[in-house]
Amino acid sequence: MMIAGVPKETFPGETRVAQIPAGLTSLTKVGIEVLVEAGAGEAAGFPDAAYEEKGARIASSREEVFQKSDILLQVRAGGANPDSGLDDLKRMRAGQALIGFLEPYSAPDIVRELNERKVTSFAMELVPRITRAQSMDALSSMATVAGYQAVLMAAGTLPKMFPMMMTAAGTIVPAKVFVVGAGVAGLQAIATARRLGAVVSGYDVRPVVKEQVESLGAKFVEMDLETGDSEGGGGYAKEMGEEFYKKQREMMIRVLSESDVVITTAAVPGKKAPTLITWEMVQAMPPGSVIVDLAAERGGNCEITKPGETVHEKGVTILGPVNLPATIPHHASQMYAKNVSNLLLLLAKEGALNLNMEDEVVRETLFTRDGEVANARVREILSL
Ligand code: NAI
Repeated sequence: MMIAGVPKETFPGETRVAQIPAGLTSLTKVGIEVLVEAGAGEAAGFPDAAYEEKGARIASSREEVFQKSDILLQVRAGGANPDSGLDDLKRMRAGQALIGFLEPYSAPDIVRELNERKVTSFAMELVPRITRAQSMDALSSMATVAGYQAVLMAAGTLPKMFPMMMTAAGTIVPAKVFVVGAGVAGLQAIATARRLGAVVSGYDVRPVVKEQVESLGAKFVEMDLETGDSEGGGGYAKEMGEEFYKKQREMMIRVLSESDVVITTAAVPGKKAPTLITWEMVQAMPPGSVIVDLAAERGGNCEITKPGETVHEKGVTILGPVNLPATIPHHASQMYAKNVSNLLLLLAKEGALNLNMEDEVVRETLFTRDGEVANARVREILSL
């Protein structure tokens, strides 16, 4: 029997949980017993009793979960929980394993601790974006939640309604929504805004997404820009260079000046988010309009975004939400738990970790093992 521990999340404002009751059967079936810290699922709407009903044991203390588990399943651990992630690692011992968002690129002290303790860790951020790993790709599932919620936030802030309405009190024209960056978050934002009845347009530097944008009932904004080889690996964008971004900003002004809502999701992996909306461009937007900058955590796509805050600038409201998936904890946990169990089922055989290093998904997701950073990409970026 292998014991998988589910501690309560400790990152401020984190309401998700790494496993949910409905997901336990698939684990117990293959000999993985689940030990849940009391109250771990409460904020997401999963009481202890629901876990017990599905065969989990409830641990009365965090220490017990860390002591008794062979593998810890967390949402935010290590570098993704800067305040108390390190305290948790100090509870771990050699050979114990960990799966979670770990921010593998940005926390050298965490890496040191993982290595000193010889923890075998898997970072959800490192799951490769290949078809076979889609069911384990938590960055994508969480981006889906964020894209949806971004639109609801915009709708709740805009002094207008989204749908067109023909009423006895006159006709209401639909809101115009512009989504910049049509990756996972952007496409879900487009779909959500369409469901609410807005007139939606989208733009992305990767021309291949034009068809996806259009299939959701949105207009793809054509810009006279040389996008050339904008596509990196795995459906991610490459960095385009300042000259390109300057031209893009010029082209976007016209669309911005006609938009009620702008949702920005433009991201380039491992890089600061490109600045696509300047202070001057915000001035050109209609009063009352709203920007939701999903890239807030990574420097923002809008120059005046403040992460976690709302900025008012000349009648325009700029929202810079962080950790949006935690605002929809029930479904976000359901999706995350599924991603984690799918990964765990790939890693564990007959009640123990059994890593097939020939498997690209295992190799790429493995962060540290036996006192070393095992992942080649991370080693390169951290210059190890
Ligand atoms: P993704 O990589 O699937 O999508 C990003 C898209 O932006 C790609 O399609 C890329 O081609 C496009 N892009 C890059 N440069 C561009 C440019 N100059 N102009 C137009 N498009 C450009 O990423 P995903 O998973 O959709 O995430 C999007 C963003 O949302 C990321 O910054 C991510 O960190 C953020 N996010 C924020 C959350 C929050 O709570 N605020 C939660 C989840 C994700």
